[in-house]
Amino acid sequence: MNYYIITGTSRGIGEALALQLLAPSSHIICISRTLNPRLTELATERNSACTQLAFDLLELKQIDSLFDEIVRIIGQDHQPNSIALINNAGMLSPVSPAERLDAQAIADNVTLNLLAPMTMTAAFLRAMEAWQVDKRILNVSSGSAKFLLPGQSCYSTSKAGLDTFSKSVNVEQQTKSHRVKIASVYPGMIDTQMQSEIRELDAETFPHVGLFIQAAEQGQLQTPAYTAEKLLALLNSDDFGSEPLVEAL
Ligand SMILES: NC(=O)c1ccc[n+]([C@@H]2O[C@H](COP(=O)([O-])OP(=O)(O)OC[C@H]3O[C@@H](n4cnc5c(N)ncnc54)[C@H](OP(=O)(O)O)[C@@H]3O)[C@@H](O)[C@H]2O)c1
Repeated sequence: MNYYIITGTSRGIGEALALQLLAPSSHIICISRTLNPRLTELATERNSACTQLAFDLLELKQIDSLFDEIVRIIGQDHQPNSIALINNAGMLSPVSPAERLDAQAIADNVTLNLLAPMTMTAAFLRAMEAWQVDKRILNVSSGSAKFLLPGQSCYSTSKAGLDTFSKSVNVEQQTKSHRVKIASVYPGMIDTQMQSEIRELDAETFPHVGLFIQAAEQGQLQTPAYTAEKLLALLNSDDFGSEPLVEAL
């Protein structure tokens, strides 16, 4: 069985990833605050295993307990074939000039976009050590890590941190006998709730809002299904992890 642990599966890219992975040969472990009934329904139809765990990734200190449950699930299989972690859950807000950012909003953004994937990665490396199988981690980052716009300092900083973390872990894994392959990936611009949130910002808070409205109007946003297909092709490719930062799908 191929195991996929995916965060942020209640909607958007994470849901599309989970939907495409539902198959008799895979067991998807889905993590979001909200459960996704569509995934449960389709898993039954496609004779696929799908476990949904309602979990708030802002609760960093509970992540080890979350992995106890994940290990219990995978441990029922005497010969797992592969285990992958996709750190996909993320948030855009707060979008505003730095002088207007407040402590709680900064903390939530950096916690969900950076500290949670770091903690998930650390827990994954520890928990999966005993399984000498193909292990991979895909961190869903953003072009905003490099393409800086006024108002997005928080989001850009957390995603740039995620890229550096992925590159650092990649360096560490080079010396291991059963290395875990890891990469941070920029998925492009995708038609999800996150893009709707950007388009609703006012121009005073986010002066470049027009660029995002125009991109949507001109049909430049990808569908979550298209992006999920590209991400999974990358994750399952032979050379996944040879480049720890993938800027174009
Ligand atoms: N859309 C784009 O154009 C775009 C571009 C570049 C990068 N990305 C990245 O792609 C990833 C997915 O984005 P998306 O567009 O699919 O966003 P989305 O539609 O807003 O979905 C975000 C997902 O994250 C989950 N999530 C949010 N807060 C959470 C929390 N505290 N604990 C657990 N899960 C939480 C949400 O589930 P619950 O609310 O149910 O918890 C939801 O499933 C993000 O990392 C984003 O930064 C997106």
